[in-house]
Amino acid sequence: MSAPNKSFDPVEVSTLAPEYLAERVSEAIAAITAAQSLDELKEVRLAHTGDRSPLALANREIGALPPAAKAEAGKRMGEARGSVNQALAARTADLEVARDAALLLEEAVDVTTVSSTPLQGGRHPLTTIQEQISDVFIALGYSVAEGPEVESEWFNFDALNIAPDHPARTMQDTFFIGSENSGLVLRTHTSPVQIRSMLTRTPPIYVICPGRVFRTDELDATHSPVFHQVEALVIDKGITMADLKGTLNHFAQAMFGAGIVTRLRPSYFPFTEPSAEVDLQCFVCRGNSIDNPAEPCRTCRSEGWIEWGGCGMVNPKVLIACGIDPDEYSGFAFGMGLERTLMFRHGITDMRDMVEGDVRFTRAFGLGI
Ligand code: DAH
Repeated sequence: MSAPNKSFDPVEVSTLAPEYLAERVSEAIAAITAAQSLDELKEVRLAHTGDRSPLALANREIGALPPAAKAEAGKRMGEARGSVNQALAARTADLEVARDAALLLEEAVDVTTVSSTPLQGGRHPLTTIQEQISDVFIALGYSVAEGPEVESEWFNFDALNIAPDHPARTMQDTFFIGSENSGLVLRTHTSPVQIRSMLTRTPPIYVICPGRVFRTDELDATHSPVFHQVEALVIDKGITMADLKGTLNHFAQAMFGAGIVTRLRPSYFPFTEPSAEVDLQCFVCRGNSIDNPAEPCRTCRSEGWIEWGGCGMVNPKVLIACGIDPDEYSGFAFGMGLERTLMFRHGITDMRDMVEGDVRFTRAFGLGI
């Protein structure tokens, strides 16, 4: 910076000349107007008002002017800087408004857009029905019992009084683990859980056992090598077939609606004596389709009854095998297929729909808990 010089005329200092300052101001204002974003404006501010800007450099010259000239040059410089700052403030305000408007647009949520949420699955109806059945019996004071799916032949057959030469005990019907002599099978029914329950609990016994079972059937519309059953077992003093019938009716009503009853037809199972088949009164036509061609029923094929499962009074031989005195205790048992139950309850015509795991099938049931 040069030393003060009393005879110095500021107009003569080229960088303080009014035209020079006016040009810098118009340059600055043009750049300010051209800035399209706050970031660009920041650069412009630095270039035109920063320490190294032409106006800042010119301002430094004022110090070297004689006092008389300082005031005039200072005034001119103040006006020049004032115009630039004003333009900067106005452009900042404009750009801030534009930025906020753009942000609002950018962040807007279009609630009408089609959602891309991934498809949710549904609980499998077999899971749901097992829980529903368990709930019905838990409410009656039963416990839920479980047994292994790989079962010893003794529990699956012998203890249930199924003779060694019974056809079910061949590889035709039963999956053996390893060889036919291994003594281990994939359980063919849930009835071995009766034996396990009697061996591990002391009467009175009230248990329900839903579970997976296995038979060497080919998969088709009505068969599957893997399916589900539910087993019930009651052992107590003075249990009669009337208790069995009352329990089955209660179960039928809980699953199929008020007033639905069951019917027992004499049958044979080695582990019950006497034994019966359980038929369910048709919950669609309630028997009104029998001998009534005008109103046929698809659910029961106009028979009025649907085969549901097997039942009976626990064979004393089975009680003895489990260390329970048949003179003191008696009991009943029943068992039915869950796939079958679901099929007629929901009009499912092909068992394969239940094993293939297609989400379109499970979703149809998925809302039930
Ligand atoms: N376990 C039999 C089956 O798989 C069904 C059955 C019949 C279970 C009679 C029982 C019963 O508890 O008492 O075919």
